[in-house]
Amino acid sequence: MKRIAVIGAGNVGKVLGLALSRQGYSLVGVVTRRTETLAAAGELLQCPVYEEPHLASREAEIVLMTTPDGMIAEVCRKVADNSGFYPGQVVVHCSGVHNSGILQAAREAGALVLSMHPLQTFPGTEAGLRGLPGTFFAVEGDREALPVAEELVSALGGKIMSIPTEMKTLYHAAACIACNYLATLLDGALRLYQHMDVPGEEAMEALYPLVSMTLENIKEVGPEQALTGPIARGDAATVQSHVAELSRSFPSLLPLYRTLGQETVRLALRKGTLDAEQAEKIYQCLEGGSTEHDGSLFHR
Ligand SMILES: NC(=O)c1ccc[n+]([C@@H]2O[C@H](COP(=O)([O-])OP(=O)(O)OC[C@H]3O[C@@H](n4cnc5c(N)ncnc54)[C@H](OP(=O)(O)O)[C@@H]3O)[C@@H](O)[C@H]2O)c1
Repeated sequence: MKRIAVIGAGNVGKVLGLALSRQGYSLVGVVTRRTETLAAAGELLQCPVYEEPHLASREAEIVLMTTPDGMIAEVCRKVADNSGFYPGQVVVHCSGVHNSGILQAAREAGALVLSMHPLQTFPGTEAGLRGLPGTFFAVEGDREALPVAEELVSALGGKIMSIPTEMKTLYHAAACIACNYLATLLDGALRLYQHMDVPGEEAMEALYPLVSMTLENIKEVGPEQALTGPIARGDAATVQSHVAELSRSFPSLLPLYRTLGQETVRLALRKGTLDAEQAEKIYQCLEGGSTEHDGSLFHR
């Protein structure tokens, strides 16, 4: 029964803390800055609460640093300066963008450090717990601590994805494209329907089967083969009419349409349903009629 402290009990800290305690880990302390969030976290996790992170950390064999990304280094340094770490302890953060090097202060105190990023979205505690089984965790850090990551991820019902430390930022950019930008994309489509006075709920109900079928197809056959629509068909006239109408009635979405359209031309070329001449024509429509581009179209 390993002793765990949770420093930063927001969406992720609460979900991981709860899930691990249900798997028999002992929660020895939770920390947040505000009194009201601290009391609520203590009640939810049924464990002692601490205002000072080093006091919770001293009690734990494994320290989960689940503060916002921008606070991890500072809180880690504060704990180290107050002798909150000890040799052999394992300190873990869950940030997608930072690697384990951000926990250098803990390493200097003899602790082993890891980053363990759940490739999942945690909008709240209930939804977070539901989404946990089968989640991949991108893990990198001190080699001696990797068995601890394996144990934690297995207890959480997840799977490990090992990534090179120096690639952590790129790994996270990919996750943002897949998750956050999908939300932004759908928001764009919904705003266009709203502009046509389609009620929000109806617009979502109408778009959802299209989106979920597309996702299923992508999972089944990959993005190239799942791609349909005017660009995949080489229909430059349709793309031209979209560009013209968006410029006229909804120009704020035009840069998004153009940029994604250009990437879609590349995807359709890889799929093989578009020849170079059609691709060039559509690319030019998307660029706003210009006949010049950087020549990268056929090279990537
Ligand atoms: N949410 C997601 O979908 C998601 C997904 C994957 C990974 N992550 C990663 O998980 C980590 C936590 O994200 P989150 O979404 O759970 O953040 P969050 O909901 O904003 O929670 C952060 C928690 O940290 C506490 N906190 C802030 N500063 C602190 C300090 N100096 N000392 C102690 N506690 C402090 C906050 O409470 P007070 O304000 O009361 O201090 C809050 O409880 C981040 O590294 C994030 O990148 C998040």
